[in-house]
Amino acid sequence: MTPYKLLLLPGDGIGPEVMGQVEKVIGFLAQAGIATFETEHDLVGGSAIDAHGVPLTDAALARADAADAVLLGAVGGPKWADVAYEIRPEAGLLRLRKDLGLFANLRPAICYPALADASALKRELVEGLDIMIVRELTGGVYFGEPKEITTLPDGTKRAVDTQVYTTGEIERIAHVAFDLARKRSGRVASAEKHNVMKSGVLWKEVVTRVHAEYTDVALEHVLADNCAMQLVRRPKQYDVLVTDNLFGDVLSDVAAMLTGSLGMLPSASLGAVDAKGSRKALYEPVHGSAPDIAGRDFANPLAMIGSLAMALRYSFGLGEAANLLDGAITDALANGARTRDIAAEGTQALGTAGMGDAVVAALKARIG
Ligand code: IPM
Ligand code: MG
Repeated sequence: MTPYKLLLLPGDGIGPEVMGQVEKVIGFLAQAGIATFETEHDLVGGSAIDAHGVPLTDAALARADAADAVLLGAVGGPKWADVAYEIRPEAGLLRLRKDLGLFANLRPAICYPALADASALKRELVEGLDIMIVRELTGGVYFGEPKEITTLPDGTKRAVDTQVYTTGEIERIAHVAFDLARKRSGRVASAEKHNVMKSGVLWKEVVTRVHAEYTDVALEHVLADNCAMQLVRRPKQYDVLVTDNLFGDVLSDVAAMLTGSLGMLPSASLGAVDAKGSRKALYEPVHGSAPDIAGRDFANPLAMIGSLAMALRYSFGLGEAANLLDGAITDALANGARTRDIAAEGTQALGTAGMGDAVVAALKARIG
């Protein structure tokens, strides 16, 4: 078996703890002869600032570029609240996304049967929920220039962020959404605010044009604010939801809570497919570094483990192994394994490591 080259960037806060559980799973997959990985570690975010004075070194970026896939834990925390904006922890993550060209961010929001009661919404609204949010990740207001705070003559300040999208950027993310819809239920909703924003007008126009190549897929346009409302009103109306960088950030946090906990959502950030048929990819949980619970064995590692499953599927073509791992997560939950964030009040919860063990036990049970 050729080992796949994986770069692990645990990052800050709960990042190292949840990454530890992924390493457990990787160890098991190798031992069971399912897949072998050559893993390397490096720093990103606050931990990189502490060691090197920057949130991502050129060397770490080069390693990420050379790897078959990157797994990232989480970045940020109050410890780095006062570092310069240019070198804040999040800048390391944004540089990885931008410099590796990871424009397509897939954020599946799945409500596991065992967790329907952990959701903030009623069981009947979320049971069976399976949404794929396709978030544009290298454009929009995150990267648009100018981005600055200037001082006005009267001494007060003026802050500017720039929301900018080009035809090409919208086209390529629309293709990702329509291609995915073909493998799912054949429906795409596209969220923007064309009633207020020029970038929304262009977004809607380009998505409509690309849709002409996908007559077998149904397309619906929705204003982003209405979409947020619909997500908490009747979330199962959506299948693939394509949107820009900022709306995608917000709507994916909303979708995460529908599933029971932010600790459940994995994500894949993918680049363009090159001539050899491969693409750059980074996999990370949607949740943050949760400094308040870091180092206490409280964090839910399922989003991080689910991110490894996405890597198996999207980077390594190991669909069966991905199904096996996703199935093991479902089984562990069905067997009653719960971390604090998804445990019913007053019930006993597992720690981070305990949940990792429960997934490995479920994997073992599945392969017999
Ligand atoms: C996310 C996060 C990041 C984002 C932060 C950490 C920069 O919230 O991946 O959703 O805003 O994209
Ligand atoms: Mg976010």
